[in-house]
Amino acid sequence: MNKTILITGGAGFIGSHVVRLFVTKYPDYKIINLDALTYAGNLENLKDIDHLGNYNFVKGDIRDTEFINSLFEKYQFDGVVHLAAESHVDRSIANPLEFIQTNIVGTMNLLNSARNIWKDNMEGKRFYHISTDEVYGSLGKEGMFVETTPYDPRSPYSASKASSDHLVRAYFHTYKLPVVISNCSNNYGPNHFPEKLIPLAINNIKNSKPIPIYGKGENVRDWLFVKDHASAIDRIYHAGRNGETYNIGGNNEWTNIDLIHKLCEVMDSKLNRPAGTSAKLITYVKDRAGHDLRYAIDSTKLQTELGWEPSLQFEEGIEKTVDWYLANQEWMDHIMTGDYEKYYDDQYVKR
Ligand code: NAD
Ligand code: TYD
Repeated sequence: MNKTILITGGAGFIGSHVVRLFVTKYPDYKIINLDALTYAGNLENLKDIDHLGNYNFVKGDIRDTEFINSLFEKYQFDGVVHLAAESHVDRSIANPLEFIQTNIVGTMNLLNSARNIWKDNMEGKRFYHISTDEVYGSLGKEGMFVETTPYDPRSPYSASKASSDHLVRAYFHTYKLPVVISNCSNNYGPNHFPEKLIPLAINNIKNSKPIPIYGKGENVRDWLFVKDHASAIDRIYHAGRNGETYNIGGNNEWTNIDLIHKLCEVMDSKLNRPAGTSAKLITYVKDRAGHDLRYAIDSTKLQTELGWEPSLQFEEGIEKTVDWYLANQEWMDHIMTGDYEKYYDDQYVKR
């Protein structure tokens, strides 16, 4: 094993795809997946790879300073890919303090521990912080976020992510910690927790339940297939320049209502229901407080500097996503009944 890499939040949606990519593509890396297994962490996401010799799972909380210090002492990580976070805007509106603790204090703990073990030799080390396009705020009908767009976060979630980005940059300038940051647009794909728009709508359509659309459904998001985000993370981890930020996006903007109509069409066809059946479930509900109107990412820097581009068109990606959810009803059932939390006990505690 020539490198030991810590991936935080690897049991979550995006983290599980990143862990799988790193574990399978780099057999000579030892990958430590650190995750607190909050409601959003699900080890069933990694069932297919958890027997591999270069993969290790550690249950733990990035808010716990002593624990994080001891983990870094024990493993002497060469690199960190930091995805662990509270990630749901609606939950951040209901309970902002948890977002401050995990997203800001948790990131600080990781930065401090990395600095402690690397301070005498930063050569070949890397601290990669995964962030979001939401730190840039809300766009009007025109324009796109570039890496130099001033930060203007508007939800407790995006404000906590913006704060952590600032701290990561501060460690680069103050302590020369070899950091890199990426800010990505909305992801979709397999293993997405069903509190977010696309998996929630797929699940409701399947069960003929109302599809809640906030406000008028006019808000715009730029959607990227999760495996394309993982491939961008791989590229940036290995080839990005220290101290730089890279925007990652799908160049794929949809209003929420158009997106849901598209999803309804795909679901009608996959479920052999007459065209128009699913769209009847669309239900307009009270808007989200401070709902950002539009996000759009310009990822020219990543494409030209590091040669990354998305592999999938949205039509193909959304079909693959629906196919995955229809083929993995058990995954959804375990989440709905809370049984997914038992997987950890069966797999790691009782054995
Ligand atoms: P997720 O909520 O699915 O997963 C987060 C993971 O972090 C979970 O496994 C959870 O158990 C773990 N976690 C939470 N608090 C923890 C703590 N205190 N200690 C250790 N582990 C903890 O989130 P996601 O959608 O996979 O997002 C991953 C990262 O990517 C986040 O940093 C998020 O801000 C960023 N991001 C997400 C999107 C998106 O569309 N989902 C887009 C851009 C950036
Ligand atoms: P979400 O998946 O929560 O991601 P984010 O808020 O990070 O963009 O929401 C995507 C969009 O869908 C956002 O504009 C809010 C909207 N939305 C709904 O209209 N209904 C819903 O039930 C949810 C969860 C989101």
